[in-house]
Amino acid sequence: MQKTSALDDRSREMDEKSWWDLWNTSYRTKDNNDSVSNELFTRAAALINRITQTGRGRVLEVACGTGTLSRMLVYSSYHGLDLSPAAIDQARQKSARILSPPGVAPPTYEAADFHDWELPPEQFDVTVCIDAISSFRDQQLVMKKLAQTLRPHGALVLTTINRFVYERIKRVGGVTLQSGPVSHWLSHAELNSLVRQSGLVIESSRTIMPRGNLGILRLVNSRRLNEAISPGMAAAFKRAKEFLGLGQYSVVVARKTS
Ligand SMILES: C[S@@+](CC[C@H](N)C(=O)[O-])C[C@H]1O[C@@H](n2cnc3c(N)ncnc32)[C@H](O)[C@@H]1O
Repeated sequence: MQKTSALDDRSREMDEKSWWDLWNTSYRTKDNNDSVSNELFTRAAALINRITQTGRGRVLEVACGTGTLSRMLVYSSYHGLDLSPAAIDQARQKSARILSPPGVAPPTYEAADFHDWELPPEQFDVTVCIDAISSFRDQQLVMKKLAQTLRPHGALVLTTINRFVYERIKRVGGVTLQSGPVSHWLSHAELNSLVRQSGLVIESSRTIMPRGNLGILRLVNSRRLNEAISPGMAAAFKRAKEFLGLGQYSVVVARKTS
């Protein structure tokens, strides 16, 4: 029988909001939590900052959790929302300790269910959604709403677990793929199709952060193989795996045309 962690056991009796309160207060109390989320945030922030530094920087983050990413972003204004009130509490407390640069409004955070969130009259230059689309009950509605938040030529930056890789990570004693209120793990192709259906035009769509140790991934990610080649070749091999769709996360940048 599979061993389950305390987190997984408690989650079975929880409603959606309480589960995400638990998740955020278990895994996101520190900004520097683990190497996987650190790399995800670093790479997402670099992508977003490239966009905001060359244009206007009104940023909306949907499912911002405890606001870790917001503290790595360059923006003119930032609004984050999340279903979990505990996460929003943490985000507010942490941001209150940071001084905003001159001329930049302090970030704002709101506890809300994005399905029911009333769209504000002002649209955003960049809308961000990190590692959360799999949790939304109605992914089509959410994707349409994400597109509606954008001004013409505004950009959506969205990352989500790449199902192909996630299903090929062997876990020890752990929280399983089904744990938590996950609605549907999208494949890379399903994600692209959902984005297109919302009317956005995909500017780039790729995977990042190769991982996995089952099936073919056991071979291509083997430590022995990757340590046997030079650092330069290892970096090139990593890029090739990302290009071929073997990264743990899918990352899409899409634009609103009009
Ligand atoms: C896997 S966590 C990722 C959080 C954050 N983006 C991060 O990377 O740390 C998924 C987040 O989605 C939020 N979420 C789930 N359903 C939501 C909804 N309907 N509206 C707003 N946020 C939601 C959860 O509260 C949770 O914080």
